[in-house]
Amino acid sequence: MKSKNSVLKVNSSSRFADSISRQVTQLISDRLLSVDADLTLIDRDLTTGVNFITEDWIGANFTDVSERSAEQTAVLADSTELVDELFAAQYLVIGAPMYNFSIPALLKAWFDQIARAKLTFEYTDTGPRGLVEGVKAYVVIASGGVTVGSEYDFSSKYVQQVLGFIGISDVTIIDASKIDLAAGDAVIQQQLSAVIGLEKAA
Ligand SMILES: Cc1cc2nc3c(=O)[nH]c(=O)nc-3n(C[C@H](O)[C@H](O)[C@H](O)COP(=O)(O)O)c2cc1C
Repeated sequence: MKSKNSVLKVNSSSRFADSISRQVTQLISDRLLSVDADLTLIDRDLTTGVNFITEDWIGANFTDVSERSAEQTAVLADSTELVDELFAAQYLVIGAPMYNFSIPALLKAWFDQIARAKLTFEYTDTGPRGLVEGVKAYVVIASGGVTVGSEYDFSSKYVQQVLGFIGISDVTIIDASKIDLAAGDAVIQQQLSAVIGLEKAA
């Protein structure tokens, strides 16, 4: 497992150059990397592929690690790689364009791959406990008309819930419309400071 010194950037927009969420996650990642030279970037672009959960995956995941066959370990290998990236992260920067009132299917698939019983969460006598510690998350939501935080935004609360479930409770939701990407660099940096509050890290 990598040491915890990474900015994990997870993008899920099907658009590229014109994608607002991709531009804002890039700006945030650049800012984080610029204030701490020890950080390195892990760039996880979900459009390159993320698996759906299969019956074999479920069977392998519910088999104790010590009893897993080589085939079962292989079935979980991609998921385990994603979990390793998460454990290596000090910062998690997620691009979440709003698709049909919620997150893209690619991002949901990523959450399904990283929510691993006994690895990223566990059940205790007092309820579930997240096992991913020490991660600060920024979630960039880009929408076309639905206001972030409104009753039709089914992204913000869901993302906060699932991140909290695996132990990431320090989550800042960023409405991408609050960053004027056409403004000059100084203005953009000012707007970033206002929404991501990186003064402490700077
Ligand atoms: C398939 C699809 C579904 C969308 N659904 C919504 C929606 O439910 N609500 C909304 O406000 N915008 C919706 N939009 C607009 C996008 O959220 C908006 O274009 C956003 O900027 C996309 O993120 P991106 O710029 O990073 O690609 C949708 C766009 C697409 C392509």
